[in-house]
Amino acid sequence: MQIVLCDDAEQTAREAAKWVQALLVHKTRPVLGLATGSTPIRLYQELIQLYQQQKISFANCTTFNLDEYFDIAPAHKQSYRSFMQTQLFNHIDINLQNTHLPACSQGQNPRLVGLEYEQHIAAAGGIDLQILGIGSNGHIGFNEPTSSLASRTRLKTLTAQTMSDNSRLFSPDEVQPTMAMTMGIATIMDARYVLLIATGLGKAEAVRQMVCGPVSAYCPASVLQMHEHAIVVLDKAAASLI
Ligand code: GLP
Repeated sequence: MQIVLCDDAEQTAREAAKWVQALLVHKTRPVLGLATGSTPIRLYQELIQLYQQQKISFANCTTFNLDEYFDIAPAHKQSYRSFMQTQLFNHIDINLQNTHLPACSQGQNPRLVGLEYEQHIAAAGGIDLQILGIGSNGHIGFNEPTSSLASRTRLKTLTAQTMSDNSRLFSPDEVQPTMAMTMGIATIMDARYVLLIATGLGKAEAVRQMVCGPVSAYCPASVLQMHEHAIVVLDKAAASLI
């Protein structure tokens, strides 16, 4: 695990952007794993700037997002598809047909959707670089504590902690989804590089468990200790307990 310590959230975004830039510049057909949540927003802003400065292009890039709420319309403003459009895709030269999220609705069999997602990733040649945030309970994607370390893309019920952490993003009249399709822990571990970003005091304990704790399904992010190329970019607050 390579730990990059930064002064603040802005610097974490700049540091993380360098890894994505290196991938886009050096690989002919890069495959990028994307994350949602508030943490990667600054990174996406950095990437948009690099694109506007013509330092990077996403024209040949394929993307796979970690997760998507279950049974949410892509156009719904709370869907992760909408998040990606607003925060990144609408501002860069990516071909939207090459952007993927594990969307699954009521009428579909989540097992098949999960299997197909895995097949799409494999057909694209696997993920070169997977961007990750971390939940305050140590989750990655929506792999909540006790998720199998061998898990693949599937439907998961969100924990009370995650529901509460994410409730700030929903207005009182909006129904907060309780389930999501998520890449599994083994899916994430298959990425050639993983790049986890954590900022703020609220993540300090989860970061401590991830970096210094035992490898355990109680802290899904701790499995990254076993990844050959795991890069963890932290600001001072998130690193304060390690
Ligand atoms: C969500 C996402 C995760 C993300 C986490 C942390 O639950 N599924 O991928 O890492 O939240 O979000 P934030 O960056 O907003 O703290």
